[in-house]
Amino acid sequence: MNIRLLTAALSAATIIICGCTDNRTSVSSPDGSITFEISLNDGTPVYSVLQEGKKILSNSTLGFTLKGEENPLALSCVELIGRDSKDETWEQVWGEDRFVRNNYNEMTVRLSENGGSARIVDIIVRVFDDGFGFRYSFPEQENLKKFAIAEENTSFDFGKDLKAWWLRRSVPYYEDYGHHTPMSQVDTAHTPLTIEAGEGRYYAIHEANLTDYAKMSLTPENNGCLRAVLTPWSDGTKVYAEAPCVTPWRTMIIADDIGKLAASKIMLNLNEPCVLEDVSWIRPGKYIGIWWTLHKDFYTWYYGPRHGATTKQTMRYIDFAADNGISGVLVEGWNKGWDGNWMKNSTGFDFTQAYPDYDFDRIMKYAASKGVQMVIHNEYAANTEHYLSQIHDAYKLYSSYDMHYIKTGNVNLLMDGKEEHDGQYAVNRRRQIVETAAQSRICVDEHEPAMPTGIHRTYPNLMTYEGVRGQEHDAWEPEGGNKPEHQTVCPFIRGLAGPMDYTFGTFDFSNPNYPFCRVMTTLAKQLAQYVVIYSPLQMASDDPFAYEGKKAFDFIKDVPCDWHESHVLDAVIGDYVVTARRDRHSEDWYLGAITDENAREMSIPLSFLEPDTEYTAQIYADGPDANYENNPESYTYSELTVTSSDVIPMKLATSGGCAVRFVKK
Ligand code: NOJ
Ligand code: CA
Repeated sequence: MNIRLLTAALSAATIIICGCTDNRTSVSSPDGSITFEISLNDGTPVYSVLQEGKKILSNSTLGFTLKGEENPLALSCVELIGRDSKDETWEQVWGEDRFVRNNYNEMTVRLSENGGSARIVDIIVRVFDDGFGFRYSFPEQENLKKFAIAEENTSFDFGKDLKAWWLRRSVPYYEDYGHHTPMSQVDTAHTPLTIEAGEGRYYAIHEANLTDYAKMSLTPENNGCLRAVLTPWSDGTKVYAEAPCVTPWRTMIIADDIGKLAASKIMLNLNEPCVLEDVSWIRPGKYIGIWWTLHKDFYTWYYGPRHGATTKQTMRYIDFAADNGISGVLVEGWNKGWDGNWMKNSTGFDFTQAYPDYDFDRIMKYAASKGVQMVIHNEYAANTEHYLSQIHDAYKLYSSYDMHYIKTGNVNLLMDGKEEHDGQYAVNRRRQIVETAAQSRICVDEHEPAMPTGIHRTYPNLMTYEGVRGQEHDAWEPEGGNKPEHQTVCPFIRGLAGPMDYTFGTFDFSNPNYPFCRVMTTLAKQLAQYVVIYSPLQMASDDPFAYEGKKAFDFIKDVPCDWHESHVLDAVIGDYVVTARRDRHSEDWYLGAITDENAREMSIPLSFLEPDTEYTAQIYADGPDANYENNPESYTYSELTVTSSDVIPMKLATSGGCAVRFVKK
């Protein structure tokens, strides 16, 4: 046998015996700055991530423990089986940036058991210039067909106890303040979780494309390590699966500055493209609604002497929307089922039957005649069994009037009385609703959602989500409304996951019914939030009476909710944020600056504007005497001619803000 044949025979033998020849394999970002490598550490697969040669994550664990087995899968073989790369630009149906570049290098690594039943788990890794994502794939194989995951053993080991911003997993519906502690003090946190890496750099851990799987949270382990925790089924199992199948992507943004943290498109890029052929009916817009006055307890959801959703009142809202170019009107409490304890008796909800003082047919026809879309509230109190039993009739009825928007509600700690809100069961039920809505050409504003992971790229009719401690807490929270720093944190934790239906727009700060509680911002900050906090559906939540005759309402009328491009110009999480965005449908720019409880003076360079071009800056600022505690309503309006070489000074009151529209001259 000649030497070449011998070598060939030997290497074939190696492959047959083990199938793995590489012990360490890596892939780098297109610009070469970030490297992701997989290796074996004591016979266990681990990954490390380096930036400019410096380790960010070291020997972080990978793999699974299956139900019924004591030990993790012994995946002691590491073998590179594929490489790929992509550089493409795609267009969003709606979004913060119209065009998105998807540029990565990819490797697929096969991990397998060496001997025994030789089960296989592949890892697909994509490294971008601003971070990475990886997912597990269970290929079709003889010894792994149907299985249940007891534990996903992914961890993120930074090797040092960095400071993080995070939301507690124990607070329902993600309606928590951001907590700011060393990673070691995290008390099981949701993702996105944002880590301050020093010198203005950030890492943010999240996931992309949560499909047929359980949501990932993070819990500290050792010094500087966060471990994945999957939301369990009621029987304790994490995920039921059948090969071939894939997990969601585990993602991390690696950003040199706060602007890049907010701008990252890794999550969207790791979701599937839009599956809907016709998206002409999916339109971003603003809505008002019979909502805030319910939360302030002026009116009730249920039928009675103080019922809010009456024909007369709804028509007033429709008229106001039509007169002011607001595209939608939300009505809550229009349908039967709100009487008594609706959380307990959620089968009382009827999604086609209105209360006697709400003339459904007349209102729908009236709205249609005025070019206004009704945003039809479907609170199903997490009873998906009941909701799904009516969903086809309901959606058929709504779309028969050419109405395309619903707001869903899931108030109840357990879905269908049994399963957690973001476990595999809930994730699948929610998807069924979004897909059904898409078939009926219905856009969804999902309240009490599962944390967004970019599914809105694939189903852009899933337009916005609550899942944030929003403005409703300012109506009734015994502690007294959201803290002034809250809105400066939201964009950098929850906001990294996608749109937030925060529902600002307060012009009347009084609330005689709950005097212990109110909106703790100035009016100018309310305006600025339309730029700082992104959603393709934005609410102007106050009663129209509060807007009448107010110049400041012009900003709400003008501000778009679909953008050509967006930039966080400056921010310190928990202190202040300055964001600029360009309208998708005109050359106008908008700027929002907000601050926490501290008043602040700022100088904002306008270098984002088109050079050598004059703009009229329409400036809505805090009045000289404004402050959030006892003079929130004071604001000024002024106009200035500016160019991109100007720097404009801004004076923000305590919990104040400044909102600017730049109109090209
Ligand atoms: C909670 C939602 O977030 C809120 O907007 C709605 O008004 C209530 N549930 C009632 O459904
Ligand atoms: Ca809520």
